[in-house]
Amino acid sequence: MAAQNKESAPLKNLDAWEDDILLRYPDPETIASGKETEAYRNYDNPERDTVKEFYRLNHTYQTYDFVEKKRAEFLSFNKKQMPVWAAFDFLNELVDDSDPDTDLDQLQHLLQTSEAIRADGHPDWMVLAGLMHDMGKVLCLFGEPQWAVVGDTFPVGCAYSDKIVYPEFFAANPDSTDERYNTKYGVYSPNCGLRKVTMSWGHDEYVYHMLKDYLPEPALYMFRYHSFYSQHREKAYDHLMDAHDHDMFKWVQLFNPYDLYSKNPTPPKWSELRGYYEKLVQKYLPETLKF
Ligand SMILES: [Fe+2]
Ligand SMILES: [Fe+2]
Repeated sequence: MAAQNKESAPLKNLDAWEDDILLRYPDPETIASGKETEAYRNYDNPERDTVKEFYRLNHTYQTYDFVEKKRAEFLSFNKKQMPVWAAFDFLNELVDDSDPDTDLDQLQHLLQTSEAIRADGHPDWMVLAGLMHDMGKVLCLFGEPQWAVVGDTFPVGCAYSDKIVYPEFFAANPDSTDERYNTKYGVYSPNCGLRKVTMSWGHDEYVYHMLKDYLPEPALYMFRYHSFYSQHREKAYDHLMDAHDHDMFKWVQLFNPYDLYSKNPTPPKWSELRGYYEKLVQKYLPETLKF
């Protein structure tokens, strides 16, 4: 993983927060088998402490100002330009070698997500959304701290919901005591629509902007809001959404289980899948991606 100081990188690997999401929102099949309860109650788990520290940093530093600065820095896409498949090689530099037995590399998680979507017969652009949805994690390779790349996302510029994981950590966020930002609507108006709402900064917002000209709108919602658990699972921000957002969130909800529950220790066979994915990428994406 790219060199990061300890303070900014409490997670052993970039996906550790997603393992914790699985404890929050267990696979319905695991619930049915009765196995989940013990894992969820196991708070005496060093892994959970690192996730907690990760959220402490995330909730403390994701302010409206911080997001504005990151948007200005990264949404001009003037850092790097790469052919699509070279971008996957670049993303794969994020593989964490401290735990080689259990960690799949990034491409394998993306392929497992897209293959599960394909197996269920969904449209090809949704398969491609599965393949691309975490491309924004390359932010880590540009030296960004983990708390500004992954983790649950949420609106900034208005009150932080207590439905966001570890809400108590927002007390240290200066926006919590800033009158411009700490009311229910903050800088927004009732049901103004999420297109007018600034989300906390991370891989979701970044990949949405990277690919917004190339895929149908439901795929763009999957990119942009796939870590917005306080809405797609907890409905905490209905007051900012408009009717179109509600319509589109059906797609975000459809996508989420493929992201969370398709993880499997058996890596997909890239040699067999390559032909299909090369054609799919060619159909929708430009030859090079800008970062
Ligand atoms: Fe993601
Ligand atoms: Fe993912």
